[in-house]
Amino acid sequence: MIKTTEIKELKLLSRGKVRDIYELENDLLIVTTDRVSAFDFVLNQTIPYKGIVLNKLSVFNFNRTKNIAQNHLIYSDFDLLPKELKKYGYLKDRFMVVKKTKVLPIECIVRGYITGSAWSEYVKTQTIGGMYVEPGLVESEKFPEPIFTPSTKAEKGHDENISVEAMKNIIGRERADEVIKISLKLYETVSQMLFASGVILADTKMEFGVLDGEIVFIDEAFTPDSSRFWFSERYRKGERQESLDKQFIRNFLLSTDWDRKSPPPDLPEDIVKKTSEIYREIYSIVTNESLS
Ligand SMILES: Nc1ncnc2c1ncn2[C@@H]1O[C@H](COP(=O)(O)OP(=O)(O)O)[C@@H](O)[C@H]1O
Ligand SMILES: [Mg+2]
Repeated sequence: MIKTTEIKELKLLSRGKVRDIYELENDLLIVTTDRVSAFDFVLNQTIPYKGIVLNKLSVFNFNRTKNIAQNHLIYSDFDLLPKELKKYGYLKDRFMVVKKTKVLPIECIVRGYITGSAWSEYVKTQTIGGMYVEPGLVESEKFPEPIFTPSTKAEKGHDENISVEAMKNIIGRERADEVIKISLKLYETVSQMLFASGVILADTKMEFGVLDGEIVFIDEAFTPDSSRFWFSERYRKGERQESLDKQFIRNFLLSTDWDRKSPPPDLPEDIVKKTSEIYREIYSIVTNESLS
């Protein structure tokens, strides 16, 4: 398992909650670790295979959407790494070499179904991200059309939902219109592909960067960390759905007396194991291949 990487040949640019990012000449080397975060905290435990699942799923999805939106992926094949990095055998299946972009400071969320924070807001005010939404929807119901709901990309702590108008003020009207169009198209395409595999893509978060004046799809692509996946055969509208991701972890943390301010408690062994299994399961459903 990989918690933290130390690649001394390269300059470390940052450690995110899950990824370690290095500079590789003009590009970036993004290494996905087995770290897991919940409620904006990185937990003490790592989840076996999580980094590999996230990395390989992102590569898979970047490849199958590249005709819709250009993305940052250059290569992820271990054999293509520079000689001096070959001694880091753990990089296999965990890294991407990507184009370095200027990250747009917003998160692009597309929702096909009403759940999570959108459902909580709707119940209170019949709005989502401050925008008025049609009345009468029940929990987990499919929207007539997928909706775009941006949020801020907080350096630390909690991202906040903002209106499309606010997003336009942050990144500019023209760029915002373009990013919204690309996001919706990506959601539409991938949700159809997943549906054919028996999975509902309830919602997903995407990030974009700018390189040479062009919008590039960056970061991760349709992983259980960035998306809510539901088994379509278990889908029941009007109820909360079981999602194929960190739900065991969130439920466990909510069952403790943790105050969500101090360092989080350790995860029990069975929660770690079940979470690892669910990540691997989603990988094999989506890609039709199992992790060796
Ligand atoms: N192609 C890219 N160019 C520049 N920055 C990127 C690119 N792809 C991803 N990033 C940034 O790298 C970081 C990924 O690390 P992650 O652990 O996911 O961080 P976070 O804790 O912010 O979610 C994110 O801040 C993301 O915006
Ligand atoms: Mg991230």
